[in-house]
Formats: sequence, C-alpha cells, structure tokens
Amino acid sequence: MLWLLLCAVYIPLGQTLDNGLALTPPMGWMHWQRFRCLVDCDAYPDECINEKLFRSMADHLAADGYLEAGYEYLIIDDCWASKERDDQGRLQPNATRFPNGIKALADYVHSKGLKFGIYGDYGTKTCAGYPGSHGHLETDAKTFAEWEVDYLKLDGCYADIDELQQGYIEMGRYLNQTGRPIVYSCSWPAYQEPLGIKSNYTVLQETCNLWRNWDDIDDTWSNVTNILKWFSDNQDRIASFSGTSHWNDPDMLIIGNFGLSYEQSKAQMAIWAIMAAPLIMSVDLRTIEPKFRDILLNKEIISINQDPLGVQGRLVSTVKKIDIWTKPILPKDESGATSAAIGFLSNRVDGYPYRLNITLSDLNITAASQYTVKDIFENTTITISPSDEIIVRVKPTGVVLLIATPVSGK
Ligand code: GLA
Repeated sequence: MLWLLLCAVYIPLGQTLDNGLALTPPMGWMHWQRFRCLVDCDAYPDECINEKLFRSMADHLAADGYLEAGYEYLIIDDCWASKERDDQGRLQPNATRFPNGIKALADYVHSKGLKFGIYGDYGTKTCAGYPGSHGHLETDAKTFAEWEVDYLKLDGCYADIDELQQGYIEMGRYLNQTGRPIVYSCSWPAYQEPLGIKSNYTVLQETCNLWRNWDDIDDTWSNVTNILKWFSDNQDRIASFSGTSHWNDPDMLIIGNFGLSYEQSKAQMAIWAIMAAPLIMSVDLRTIEPKFRDILLNKEIISINQDPLGVQGRLVSTVKKIDIWTKPILPKDESGATSAAIGFLSNRVDGYPYRLNITLSDLNITAASQYTVKDIFENTTITISPSDEIIVRVKPTGVVLLIATPVSGK
C-alpha cells in the first residue's frame, strides 16, 4: 500500500526534466545565424545545409581547439528535413542533401568526440516551412533517440500560443521515455514574451535545460544591444531561474561573422559569459580569422561562463553610459567571499576610449578587504582594497572584463 502511495506521488515528479545534463551552460556550434536556410547546393555548394557542411564543421570543432575548450555540441538547425514524412510517418532528411541519413551523420559527429544536436518544431511546420512535430511528438522523440541525438532545439512556429507550454511539457515526457539523455532546448518564451505574455519560468526550469527567451539574434551590433536591453530590463524576473541544468538563452554567438567589429565581438563574448548564457557559436569555422577564434577560445572567459556556482550575472549599474555587469564566481576565500567577473560595456558614441573612475565598493564587492583584479583582455593584474579607485578605459562599443579575486587572509 505504501509502495502504491509512493508511486502515486512519484509519477507526476517523473514528468519533470531530470536528465542530469547541462550542469553548466551548453557550449557548441549551430548553423542558423551564419548559414540560415541555404538549400541551393548547386549555387552555393560550400555553404548549403547538407551533410558535407556538418562533417566539415565537426572536423574543425575537433581539430582547432574548440572541443578542447568545451564546445561539444554540433547542432543542425532548420531546413535539414524532407518536406514529406516517410511512409511510417517519421521525419526524414532531405535525401539529396543528406544521402547517408541523419544517423550516419550523428555517428560521424560522435566519432570526433562531439555530441550531436538537431532542430524540430512543436507546431505544424518549422519556421522555414518543414514538417513540424504537432501530432507526431512521440514518434519524433523516438526517431531522434534512434538517431542518437544528444540535444534537441524545439522551436515554436506554427503553433497555438495557448497550447505551447503544455505541448513542450508533453514532448519533454516523450524524450524522457526514450531513456536517452537529450538536452532539451525550448523556445516557448520567445513566442510569448514579445507579445507581452510573461512566461512561467518555474515550469520552464522544470521542463527544459535551456530556453530562448526573446527575438532571434542577427549579425548586427544593434541587435546584440537590443537583446541585452531585454535581458537587463527583465533580469529581476528571469535571472534567478538560470542555474545548474536550466539556463536562459539570449541566442547564438555571432563572433567571426560580418556584423561585429573586433571590440564588439569581445563585448558579446564577455557579457554572454557573465550572463551564464549558452555559448553556441554560429560562424564558418573553415574561414574564421584567428583573432576572432582567439576570442571564442579564451579560457578565462569560458571559465567565467562555466563557473560551477552557475549564477546568471546582472547589470548592476550604468555610469556615464557604461553598463556594468557582475557575476559571482569561484574561488571563494575562507570567509566565503566569492570572486566576481565584472564587465564594463560602453554604449557611448564619442569615439574614443572613455576613462571611468570606479571602486569595487561602488559595485558592492566588499566582502574581502583586498582583491586582486585582473584585466582579462589586457592581461594585467593589480591588488587593491574595495575603496581604492581604479580607472577603466572602455573603447567605443567595446568592453573591459575584470576578475576580482579575494586575497586570502586579508
Ligand atoms: C526561429 C528560431 C531561429 C531559427 C529559425 C529557423 O526563428 O528562433 O533560431 O531556429 O527559426 O527557421
């Protein structure tokens, strides 16, 4: 009887996500921002969405230091599928562009030591018009598991907005039932929040490993700053829901493409790290310039992002049009004072490196009496007390990224 009772209690809990994945923000590569829905392989043989593109990106992820730095997921976005399901109602890839099928591609990706991700949509169609999972959730979850998918980005185009949350919960249940651990990336807030509907973040946290909150990223600086504005305007409502196994997702890194300058690229990397955002690159790894690759591979910035405390950093102050973001990170000193990553992001338009005088006390970093402060891009370190003034020179639309570490015993 007691056993029955326990079961009755256990079943609803079993419906929540508990896949032990995404303990830190997921890192990887996804095709969408850079390669979009380019399916004309005759006109664009090297850039179209086909198995050759993904094999080649897998090669570069493994060989060029990305996997070693933590970028482990290779994720196919929209436009991989055939417009028709197979005669058993299963999704199938476009046969011309994926002649060996998705399982063979997943095997190749796995053979490189990487994990394999794919895109689906909860609605009747994907955003680009390929078959959606509506009415096929269980079949599609099984198909993805048979293909040995490790990460599913489930989009929410062509769906009834009132049905979305429940539909994602249902798909999560089918994914759990496959027994395969699959990172579950949800998108329903990105369909609700822009309409002024506040998503239920408690349910998101219980259902998904990560979720897109807001609009798509595009390859422009103004788009990056718009996304940051939404995240900082809403941080008091959403930030606390990020943490081990469940993360807010401001969308892909666009570093190395066409729209961001070198300084802006450093800024995206630094603030995404502070926000504990998933670090999903979308860039042509065959042609990326080394200086952009170095930003993506910067170990200290990645360790801010991947910090085990898993706290989403926040915009704490704006001084002279410079946004100051902070994130508590390890190490702690013996008194329990944490370290902090501090990002200064300039929204100034005056076209020269602006000098800002500031103290750690101004930023409420006061738990220890002394801190070493390292400038991550300049590679300089000073030791100061919280009341000592420091001068930070921030380039136009650029960033200064510091790590303040308590000096033990001080
Ligand atoms: C939506 C998503 C994008 C991308 C496209 C694909 O716009 O937000 O990230 O997946 O669909 O069509």
